[in-house]
Amino acid sequence: MFAVHLMAFYFTKLKEDQVKKVDRFLYHMRLSDETLLDIMARFQAEMEKGLGKDTNPTASVKMLPTFVRAIPDGSENGEFLSLDLGGSKFRVLKVQVSEEGKRNVQMESQFYPTPNEIIQGNGSELFEYVADCLADFMKTKDLKHKKFPLGLTFSFPCRQTKLEEGILLSWTKKFKARGVQDTDVVSHLAKAMKKHPETDVDILALVNDTVGTMMTCAYDDPYCEVGVIIGTGTNACYMEDMSNIDLVEGDEGRMCINTEWGAFGDDGTLEDIRTEFDRELDLGSLNPGKQLFEKMISGLYLGELVRLILLKMARDGLLFGGKKSSALHIKGKIETRHMAAMEKYKEGLANTREILTDLGLEPSEADCIAVQHVCTIVSFRSANLCAAALAAILTRLRENKKLVRLRTTVGMDGTLYKIHPQYPKRLHKVVRKLVPNCDVRFLLSESGSTKGAAMVTAVASRVQAQRKQIDKVLALFQLTREHLVSVRDKMRAEFEYGLQKKTHPLATVKMLPTYVCGMPDGTEKGKYLALDLGGTNFRVLLVKIRRGRRLVRMYNKIFAIPLEIMQGTGEELFDHIVQCIADFLDYMGLKGAQLPLGFTFSFPCRQTSIDKGTLIEWTKGFKATDCEGEDVVDMLREAIKRRNEFDLDIVAVVNDTVGTMMTCGHEDPNCEIGLIAGTGSNMCYMEEMRNIELVEENEGKMCINTEWGGFGDNGCLDDIWTQYDKEVDEGSLNPGKQRYEKMTSGMYLGEIVRQILIDLTKQGLLFRGQISERLQTRGIFETKFLSQIESDRLALLQVRGILQQLGLDSTCEDSIVVKEVCGAVSRRAAQLCGSGLAAVVEKRREDQELEHLRITVGVDGTLYKLHPHFSRILQETVKELAPQCDVTFMLSEDGSGKGAALITAVAKRLQQPQKEN
Ligand code: BG6
Ligand code: BG6
Ligand code: GLC
Ligand code: GLC
Repeated sequence: MFAVHLMAFYFTKLKEDQVKKVDRFLYHMRLSDETLLDIMARFQAEMEKGLGKDTNPTASVKMLPTFVRAIPDGSENGEFLSLDLGGSKFRVLKVQVSEEGKRNVQMESQFYPTPNEIIQGNGSELFEYVADCLADFMKTKDLKHKKFPLGLTFSFPCRQTKLEEGILLSWTKKFKARGVQDTDVVSHLAKAMKKHPETDVDILALVNDTVGTMMTCAYDDPYCEVGVIIGTGTNACYMEDMSNIDLVEGDEGRMCINTEWGAFGDDGTLEDIRTEFDRELDLGSLNPGKQLFEKMISGLYLGELVRLILLKMARDGLLFGGKKSSALHIKGKIETRHMAAMEKYKEGLANTREILTDLGLEPSEADCIAVQHVCTIVSFRSANLCAAALAAILTRLRENKKLVRLRTTVGMDGTLYKIHPQYPKRLHKVVRKLVPNCDVRFLLSESGSTKGAAMVTAVASRVQAQRKQIDKVLALFQLTREHLVSVRDKMRAEFEYGLQKKTHPLATVKMLPTYVCGMPDGTEKGKYLALDLGGTNFRVLLVKIRRGRRLVRMYNKIFAIPLEIMQGTGEELFDHIVQCIADFLDYMGLKGAQLPLGFTFSFPCRQTSIDKGTLIEWTKGFKATDCEGEDVVDMLREAIKRRNEFDLDIVAVVNDTVGTMMTCGHEDPNCEIGLIAGTGSNMCYMEEMRNIELVEENEGKMCINTEWGGFGDNGCLDDIWTQYDKEVDEGSLNPGKQRYEKMTSGMYLGEIVRQILIDLTKQGLLFRGQISERLQTRGIFETKFLSQIESDRLALLQVRGILQQLGLDSTCEDSIVVKEVCGAVSRRAAQLCGSGLAAVVEKRREDQELEHLRITVGVDGTLYKLHPHFSRILQETVKELAPQCDVTFMLSEDGSGKGAALITAVAKRLQQPQKEN
């Protein structure tokens, strides 16, 4: 009994002495709580630095965006292939995620070796090897019959701009293959897979192992928002608020950040805690100066640290009686698994003796106790350091969520964490001590990171499928050159039908004579009133023209025309117009002045003289009764009479295209075309009299108001007419009419966009599949919104802001899609309009038998003026389809009122001699 006690006493004493000795020797490796809190604070600062746009380039902790935006929600399903490269083992897997709701995952896997000559050789050979293994797996598992989405778990720092791409920043751990750094890993693998044409895989996602681990654990525990690896290497990822991630556009929701904390300290931040052993180990590593934090923590390095310590202690005579073995001199002789064995609770001491003996040493009891304690200190320091960094992440999460207490789960993986007997307990304890206000659950990933990678791939594959659906819709709006050429030629043919007496009655492009026969010559003068009705605004103007100097002064007032008047009775409409004139005259102090008036009336009118115009039919947003078939000049005169307050001399009725041509023609006599791309779409041009069969004369030229908006009403555009155009047409005031206008003008483009958005939403591709009341409201996308959304200067967030302002609750992804839809619709509009214009300039060139034509187009309209791309695309199309014409586009700054006044001036001049006669 006494002997036993004595033995026990002796052993305790021996142990105490050895522990003290080692503690003294490794004093620098034992980190106090204060130091840990300090390291935690330093890591917090590093995270901040890595996340900032300006500070990221010089940050050592890279905080890499992963483009993984959400943890699994259980709706993932499908069959996936998966590669897991970069940990201690390389695996190929097939993962089957079962039907919704059941949360059932089945995996089949196969390990493949990763010999040093492959992972440290030539980059292309490495990826060829990986591809070979994958092909072999597919062969043995009989998976060659179908296409598989593939997720690649690649456990190295990669800079991503999307999920399916990753630029390798640097190799870490044991890998060092040439020619891969700074290149895209996914492309390498895709290229290597080409050598196996019998296999069909689509690499959809690249994920770090930390991300895979987090996602794996989150599949079972939705609280999981952190992933930590303590294996060959060490690293962590977590869900960060998008608003804190400067490097990625968008503010909404969260994104997983791969911290790459292994590089913490690479800028010198941890020099005060690194020891001579850390420095020696680093110098002998594949990547000196890099991954300094990792080298104090992870499995690849801890055994080596122990070896270096033992060697030094032996040299100093503190171990093995000062004797060293040759094996102890060999790098890598002590591995993490040895440490784990030596630190085992019961058999640890015996294991230690065996391991040391295997190293050719002759350890005493005291040596074994000392060596065991060295291991403890080294692994304890590792756990402490990990705990400090993890505590920083947890604190960040808690602060992001503005919580007093955070409940969260950390997904864990890595051999060191898994096989070391004390490690998890120590880590958990220190973390809880450092962040007492967090309730942390540590969840070991039993199945590695692949299950999580499959979840990411599943989401990516869903997104890809959705993308295809969206692209399919957008493709309907993409016109080929052949399409455009055909539109140009059909338009040209329509011009001829409209001009010829025989075909005119049935022509859809009406080619209306305007009785405007010349351009202003600068001799016009006088004071005129002008009305401008039919565009976005109704204006009344006073125009003063001075002879010779081409100087025009204008005063105008915008009046509203309420919807109920636009679509009420004709009498109400014209009474309202006269009321506005009266207000204007009052306002200008002109009551009683008998001024000549030019009436810009932007609707199709059949004219027999300059001051007569019978409305053929309303277009755009007007639908007042009892007007179609009536002379609008008469209607205006009658309304003036009804009011019986003033008299006006209505001299001319003018289409807005004609007014615009004249406005521009006043400055550039070469302007012989007027184009409106606004609420509606139309064009006029100067035609040879001899070509106009409806007018007797044959000399000179006359302006033709083409009313090209009606192009296509005979079905000639049906090949490019989409279901969305059809819906817009059916919902309009004039179904079946003005088809070209409905594909090209401001009043309808937003409606086409809205119809597409409704369809995409119905397909579950937008707005979370919810069709809001707002989206069902006609006319919400006015030209100005369309123009804003498509502006290149606008950040995604601002687009989202506009959509929200419109009452559409859109995510950032939604906003991207909406912008694309707007782009497709407006692009088609500009191209179609350009094709029409190409037809007219070509006609003019041919009619004049010119090799080259120089001509100016006067243009007006909100779409042309406000939209960021419309005018450019239109001009490009004209150039492409009418290469022999040199077309100058002149924006009408003054609207068509000025042109109408000029026409009035000319008409007045022509009237004069008649009256005098
Ligand atoms: C595995 C994961 O379980 O753990 C890998 O599937 C990961 O993706 C690895 O890289 C990390 O641990 P170790 O010890 O193998 O580096
Ligand atoms: C204005 C003209 O500038 O543009 C109007 O003065 C014309 O006559 C209008 O109708 C066309 O553009 P929108 O976009 O207002 O229809
Ligand atoms: C290394 C890698 C990192 C990986 C970690 C764990 O630190 O750089 O990407 O997550 O090892 O495998
Ligand atoms: C509509 C009208 C047309 C007008 C055009 C532009 O197409 O029918 O007359 O020129 O809109 O406002």
